[in-house]
Parts: sequence; C-alpha cells; structure tokens
Amino acid sequence: MTYKKFNDRVEEILYGGDYNPEQWPEEIWEEDMKLLKEANINEVTLNVFSWASIQPSEDEYDFRRLDKIMNLVRKNGLKVMLATSTAAHPPWMAHRHPDVLRTEFDGKKRKFGGRHNSCPNSPTYRKYAPLLAKKLAERYKDYDNIVAWHISNEYGGVCCCENCEKAFRLWLKDKYKTLDNLNYAWNTEFWGHHFYDWDEIVIPDLRSEFFAWNRTQFQGMSLDYFRFNSDSIFRNYQDEYREIKKITPDIPITTNLMGFYEDLDYRKWAKYMDFVSWDNYPSNECGPAEIAMSHDLMRGIHNGDSFVLMEQTPSVTNWLPYNALKRPGIMRLWSYQAMAHGADCIQFFQMRRTRGACEALHGAVIDHVGTNNTRVYREVKQLGLELHKLKGEILGSRLDSKVAIYFDWNNWYALRVSAGPSINIDYKNEILCYYRALFSEHIDVDIIGPSDPLDNYKILIAPMMFMSQDGYYDKVKKFVSDGGTFVATYLTGMIDENYLFKLGGYPGEYKEVLGLWVEESDALPEDKANSFIYDGTKYPAKLICDLTHLDKEDDCLSVYEEDFYKGMPVVSRHEFNKGKAYYIGTHSSSEFYRKLVHNLCVEQDIKPIIDISALDDPEQIEVTARENYNGKFIFVLNHSDKDIEISLPQNGTVLLSEEHIENGHRIKIKAHDLLIYKV
Ligand code: GLA
Ligand code: ZN
Repeated sequence: MTYKKFNDRVEEILYGGDYNPEQWPEEIWEEDMKLLKEANINEVTLNVFSWASIQPSEDEYDFRRLDKIMNLVRKNGLKVMLATSTAAHPPWMAHRHPDVLRTEFDGKKRKFGGRHNSCPNSPTYRKYAPLLAKKLAERYKDYDNIVAWHISNEYGGVCCCENCEKAFRLWLKDKYKTLDNLNYAWNTEFWGHHFYDWDEIVIPDLRSEFFAWNRTQFQGMSLDYFRFNSDSIFRNYQDEYREIKKITPDIPITTNLMGFYEDLDYRKWAKYMDFVSWDNYPSNECGPAEIAMSHDLMRGIHNGDSFVLMEQTPSVTNWLPYNALKRPGIMRLWSYQAMAHGADCIQFFQMRRTRGACEALHGAVIDHVGTNNTRVYREVKQLGLELHKLKGEILGSRLDSKVAIYFDWNNWYALRVSAGPSINIDYKNEILCYYRALFSEHIDVDIIGPSDPLDNYKILIAPMMFMSQDGYYDKVKKFVSDGGTFVATYLTGMIDENYLFKLGGYPGEYKEVLGLWVEESDALPEDKANSFIYDGTKYPAKLICDLTHLDKEDDCLSVYEEDFYKGMPVVSRHEFNKGKAYYIGTHSSSEFYRKLVHNLCVEQDIKPIIDISALDDPEQIEVTARENYNGKFIFVLNHSDKDIEISLPQNGTVLLSEEHIENGHRIKIKAHDLLIYKV
C-alpha cells in the first residue's frame, strides 16, 4: 500500500477553520491572532463570503482588505485555505444580470438573497466566478502559507430556469445523440410523451412531471435531470479549478462536501478534487455509527485517501429545531472520530462568532464574550495541544478494510423517484442498518461505488441495489467466483441506468449468482410485520417482503412465518464457484443485522480489530485502525456515558500519554474519552 498525505505542504495535523475578520472592525484582529495562537490553532480558512466587497462592479476589484488579512495571518504563522468567495453572488450582479438568480423547483424565480444562490448555467456566473478565482490565484500565488484552495462553499440545490432548460437539452443531445434513443430510454410512449423536437423537452419539475418534490411521473427523465443538475454545478467547480490550476499547479484544490448529500454525485466530483474535505454537522439524533458512516463515504469517494474535516461546530449550531450544546468532551471525541476514519486535519466553523444575521447564535471558538474564559475555548485549546503533540505521525495513514458496502448516487436518485413499492423506502437507512452492525462488531468498512476495485475485500454488501450500473454484475460475479461473499437485498437489480425495468425476472443478471428469482414484492404498512427464524432466533420482516423462488431448495436459510407466502424463503445463501451470495428479501431489526453480519464475518474469518464484544453496548464503542510507514494506529473511542475497560491485543504505545503497554494489558477508557494505540 502507498500512503499519501492529503497535502504535501503539511507536516503536522492542521487545526483551525473558517475565520471571517471582514465581519469585524480591524481593531479586533490582533486580539484574534493572540487568542487563536493561544488555542493552538495553526490554520485558517479565509475569504469564504466576500465576493461583494472584493468586486464592487463588473470591472472593479478591491483586494486591499484581503491583502491585510493575508499578511496578518502570514505574519502570525498561520497556514491558509483560501476560499474563492463564489458561493454567494453580490447584490449588484443580481440586480444588473438577473440570469444569475435561480428558479426553484416549483418555478418560482428568486430575487437576490441568501447564499448558494447562483444559477449554475447563468452566463454571468460562469463568466465572473472563474474570473474571480483567477484574480485571487494571480494575486496570492506566492504566499507559501497557502495549503489549499477552497472553491465556493457547500455547493448544492437545483435550478429550473430557462438557461438551465436550454443547457439540459444540450446535455441530453450529447448523451442520447438522437431523439429516438431518448424516446426509447424514457419510455415516452407511456402517456403519449413522444418528442419530435429537442425544444419540446422541458425540465421535469413541479410545473411539469412532478406532483411533489420526490413524486414524478417520468422516472427516466427525472433521473437525467438530477444527473444534469449535479453535472452543471460540477462544471462551475471545474471552471474555477481550471483557472486556479493554471496559475498555482502545486497548490491542492478542494471544495467542502456534505457527506450523504442527495443532490450531487460526489463520486464524480471527487475525480476533480485534489483531496476531499467535508462538513460534519450531525443532527441531535445521530448516533456514532451514522457519523462514522459519513466519514467512510467521504474517504471512499477518493480511493480511501485521507481527507480534511473542513467544518464542524465547536459547540452548537443555529439551524436545528433544537440546538443542543455539544456536551463537554464531545467535540474532542468527534474530532478524533474523524481522524479515526481518515481525517488529517480538524477544522471548525468558525473562529469568532458573528454579531448579526442568522449565525449570531452559532458556536465559535471565540464567543461574543470575546475572551479565552469559556468552556468551549478551553476545550478547543486542549484539543489543539494534543494534536500538536501528535505531530504528523499519523498523516496519510489508511484503513485496510476487508468489508465493503456499495453505495451509488444514481441508485439513490432512482430510489428517490421510484413510484412504488412503498413510500418508506429509505436507501441511506438500509445502508445504515448494515453499517451499524459492522460498526458494533468493530470491523473497518469501506463505502465504495461502481468503479472501485473489489480485490481487497472479502465481503461486499450491496443493500437495495435497485439500479445496477452497466457491467457491474460482471464484477460481482468475478468477486464471488473468486471466493468473496456478496450480500444483496430486496429491491436489487430491477432497473437499468435509464430506469427501464429488467425483463426475464428480478433481480436481472443477479439471478445467476444469487440462485433465485423474485416473483413479487409485498409492501407492508408501518404497523405490520411478518416474521422469520434465522439461526435459531425469531426476527421481524418489515417494509418489503419479497416472494422468492430458489434454484436449489437447500439454499434456504429462513422462511416467512405468516400470510399467504408463509414457507417461502426470506434469507438464502447460494454457493457460486468459490464464493457465496446471500439474499435478504426483507427489512428487519438491528438484532438481525448484527447476527447476520457476525456470521458472515466468522465465515470469512474477519476478526474485530479488538474483541470487546462483551461490553454492554458495543455500538457505543468504536474501533478503527489506520496504518502508514510509521506503524499501525488503533483508535478506541468510548461514546458511552460509562467508563469501560478493555484489553489491548499487542504490545504498543498509547499516544498522548506515551504509556508502553504489554499484550493483554487491561486499560480503562473513561466515558467520552478515547485512546490511540500505536503498534
Ligand atoms: C455550513 C457552511 C458554513 C456555516 C455552517 C453553519 O457548513 O459552510 O458557512 O454556515 O454551515 O453550521
Ligand atoms: Zn438555472
């Protein structure tokens, strides 16, 4: 394995985040510098939302204030991620060039306001955004404390304006070449939608094919629109990327992503990102496994390389219905959690809490009180001290997972717009069920997509792979033939990339490797369940119950216990050459997923990183391992409210305390504490 730091310009763990001094009078800047340094912060992200002040009109630019800020932070030894400011266009631009404004999904044309507000196909935006990026690159190219470019900010949303409509037609022409191909792919004979001219095609939105935000009447067309919208916004990113690269080829470029964010196919984007960075804002209900899963997704879209935690709040957000404080120790724990999954850099939004507008109640390193005398500041400072102690030892280390979960944005789009079989179909949640089970078994997981190689894995779990990408079946077949374990679930292999259903029985080609075919699927209302016995225990069958026929009766592991399909298989295992393919025809309980995943891992001889399964609630204890030329780093995080005691499997050193430990030694980890064990 080769180990790659997220950035060659970095020798230690970067620690800092969004700093917006332009929102404050200059007198306060020196005080900021003092407080940031005291908090052991060594990096700031600058210039995220300053377009309006940097560019007062079409041909005027004013960099004086940014120059001052850049010089100030350089003088103070801070590294910089320099943002391009293009995530919110200036009011004058919207006023003089209304094409920059978006039209919403319901057809409402926006006025100036908010942010992340530009139409991706606006000629004005496409002219001025890359131009600003170019000017910034030209001006600051020689600042050797710039560690990365941060293009725009949290790209997202959709636009349904006329410029987007025109661009959509061109995108379709490029994809389908002829209207015959398009008519076939979209199945337009349905409801008499045959198109004779490209100009007859309109955006599928709430004025045309949709009757609710996720209820469309033309699935294929809607899928293409989601893809097109993601591509359009991606092209905005590329426009800026290209300009910057020409001027500073050696400075890596990124944009901050948002984990499981539906609108953008990040896997496509990641190919154009020098490293991945993302913003982690879990909701109050989010457990440790769900956060971990997002980190794994973000690492996975860039070949498992280390990434940057671009933003997290040090304490509280302002945009949840109930903005709970992060309890003492949680910010630290979640920062290490990011690192446990591959982060090489820990950042916050933001350094100093703003005075007005909607983020005035958002957490920051420096609060409105303006001093170092707060709980949050002290926690930030303490973590900074620890990261400083860790130096760069861990940078570029990788996880070596033997289990992969398949996740694909195109499939997500397809399931989002699917009409039937149930409105409770939830792709992300189905992935999470399997992920949580593996998490509780303390087994590292990669989240991978259609183009990722399978060579390193022993188990591939592909929940609800409703749409299988062209050619993916051949990969799965080879994987299983060579000895891998493949797991498929209800709603697998039913459609092609255009949302045309497979003929000849579900799950399409996968019938072969799974040794079965699915005749019908029953959708159960929320309060109904069937049941089955698996490995001696009874479990519920919920949401969907597939009515399946097996090629070989012996493959059946469990049958339904009720209803007219009582006795039909619900869990099966088919041997295919050297490997095995499981089919789980329903949705069940977390206890079932734990049991299943445990059995799969035993069968494939995949062992937990540390065996701590005897603990009360294994899902509150997280274990991962990262490895590089310096060694292997085992992270054990205690998310529970109780102290725990574990025994360490090999001789090694506990980082931070520098304690040397012998094999089998028992060690205590306090509630919300963690250890990093180097072996
Ligand atoms: C996002 C944005 C930041 C800030 C935070 C607040 O992540 O990128 O600019 O608004 O949310 O939580
Ligand atoms: Zn538009």
